Formats: sequence, C-alpha cells, structure tokens
Amino acid sequence: MTTHKVGHLIGSLAKGLINRKLAKALVRLAPSELEMSEISFNDLPLYSYDYDANYPPVGKAFKAAIAAVDAVLFVTPEYNRSIPGGLKNAIDWASRPCGSNSFAHKPSAVIGTSPGAIGTAVAQQNLRSVLSFCNSPQMNAPEAYIQFTPGLVTDDGEVTNVGTAEFLRNFMTEFHAFIARVRSVLPKNA
Ligand code: FNR
Repeated sequence: MTTHKVGHLIGSLAKGLINRKLAKALVRLAPSELEMSEISFNDLPLYSYDYDANYPPVGKAFKAAIAAVDAVLFVTPEYNRSIPGGLKNAIDWASRPCGSNSFAHKPSAVIGTSPGAIGTAVAQQNLRSVLSFCNSPQMNAPEAYIQFTPGLVTDDGEVTNVGTAEFLRNFMTEFHAFIARVRSVLPKNA
C-alpha cells in the first residue's frame, strides 16, 4: 500500500471551533493511505521580505513542515468574504524566500465550513487563486462548501448527518486519488 503524508492547515486561529471540528472529521474519514497531521502556523509573526535574508527558526520550521508532506489540505473559515489573515500570512511565509516556494508542485485541496448558507465558497475561491499563483496543483472537484449547523460534527469529529458524512468521506477518497495521480507524474521536489 502506497501511503501519502497530508498536512492539514486549519485557517482559524480560534480554539476548538467549527473548522477544527471539520478537520477532525476529515481525519477520521480519510482513507488509510493518507497519513494526516496538522501543520500549525499560530506562532508565525507577520511576514515581511526583510526576513528573507535570515529566516527565523519559526519560519524555517513551518517551511520544513510543508516540505515534509506530500500534499496539503486547507480547512478554512471565511472572514469578510476571504480567507483569514493568519492563513494568508502563513502561505506568504511558506512561499518565500523567492525561489524556494514550498507549495510548488505540492498537491492541495480546499474545504471549509461556516454557519452561513454559502459555506465559505467565496473564501475558497480566494484561496484557490492564491494557490494557483503558488503553483500548487489543486483538486478541482469535488468542491465542498459545508454549512455548519449546531451539532453537525461533535468535538471528537464524528459527523452526525449520514449524508454529510458520506459526502466528506468521498471528498477524502477523491483527494487520495488526486494525490496519487499528481505524484505519479510529479515526483517530490520536482
Ligand atoms: C466571520 N464570519 C463569516 N462567515 C461567513 O460565512 N462569511 C464571512 O465573510 C464571515 N466573515 C467573518 C469575519 C470575521 C472577522 C469573523 C470573526 C467571522 C463568521 C464565521 O463563519 C464564524 O465565526 C465561524 O465560526 C468561523 O470559523 P471557526 O473559527 O469557528 O472555525
């Protein structure tokens, strides 16, 4: 069995809220070929290219964590119809210094949840634009705009709605297939 390491980034800096629950659910529902681990970015300072000449240890560690995985899953809230500033800051850190973009050729997928009816759709489109510039091959479909209703996912990541659980399981199955396809033509560090 070929396994793939997947790092997931949770766009929210808030503790214990709905996108963290969704991430837990996705970890539970992922096929066994995907080795899931969270990559935290909470300790990163605000990025400036003044750091490029001498990246601080926290920036190096974040880039190393991205480099160590085969694929990245973004689980993000929507803030003011875009992605939270903390997540954008983390992507900026990983994309630099110029010439060492950690996302290049790294397969990714995007998902998110909000109480609103469009379930982070606009934030996800913004994120897709950023990831395109970062040259990350993205899973185009299925898209996943999850409207969070009270109790939809427990604190432990159990999805209480059967249809939603099946949808999310299929999302992770498709992500596995996408990662395998990308890795068959784009070896790591290509
Ligand atoms: C929000 N929220 C929100 N929701 C949405 O669907 N579209 C939006 O544009 C926004 N904008 C927004 C801005 C800011 C600054 C905050 C704090 C919140 C509400 C948001 O979906 C809700 O707080 C979620 O609970 C955030 O996800 P986490 O942090 O709980 O995972």
